[in-house]
Amino acid sequence: MNTDFIHTNRLTLRPLVKSDAFDLFRLDSNPEVVRFLGNHPIESIEQVYIYLGNIMHQYTKNGIGRWAVIEKETGLFVGWAGLKYIDTPINGHNCFYDVGYRLKPEFWGKGYATECTVAWIEYAKNHLNLKELYSVTHIDNKASQNVLQKCGFLRKNTFLDTIHDETIDCVWFELKW
Ligand SMILES: CC(C)(COP(=O)(O)OP(=O)(O)OC[C@H]1O[C@@H](n2cnc3c(N)ncnc32)[C@H](O)[C@@H]1OP(=O)(O)O)[C@@H](O)C(=O)NCCC(=O)NCCS
Repeated sequence: MNTDFIHTNRLTLRPLVKSDAFDLFRLDSNPEVVRFLGNHPIESIEQVYIYLGNIMHQYTKNGIGRWAVIEKETGLFVGWAGLKYIDTPINGHNCFYDVGYRLKPEFWGKGYATECTVAWIEYAKNHLNLKELYSVTHIDNKASQNVLQKCGFLRKNTFLDTIHDETIDCVWFELKW
């Protein structure tokens, strides 16, 4: 995996590391953050270590995974954003790269998710030689849909997805170049 950090105007993007666990716990234990994700807020740091392990495995196996987002001005951990290789079928697609993001609420509304997504589109083009990216949002997640549309993604269709035994109305987005 290319582990060079990515620098945008206001943010640094870098691979997640074990010492991010406490910040990830604060992120995913917040009901506001997981509202549209089909997950319940996590309750223990052990759950973070399990999914951090999965992300590290993706870095090794797929050469990419979600990365940490750090605010340059303060050095604070904002959340994560990045690409994930999906190799289980969803909405008639399989084996594709998805772009996603999850930020702490105190950083919402500053254009950070958009800034990250623009950077990840460039990375997909220039480092992975991809020709397309995809993303999925909950049907009511207007903030996320706005981010994708501002970055040029097209809303393709709605579909039902099952996450943790819950059936969720989702929207499928595509960006091709
Ligand atoms: C989705 C999320 C990453 C957006 O982060 P952000 O940094 O606030 O996004 P941006 O500021 O780049 O852009 C958000 C846009 O949506 C708009 N927006 C925010 N909340 C909105 C709402 N409830 N309804 C409609 N539009 C909304 C903002 O005004 C902004 O558009 P603008 O630039 O035209 O004003 C953030 O809300 C988050 O982390 N949510 C929890 C996790 C999540 O849902 N992740 C996405 C899963 S698909």
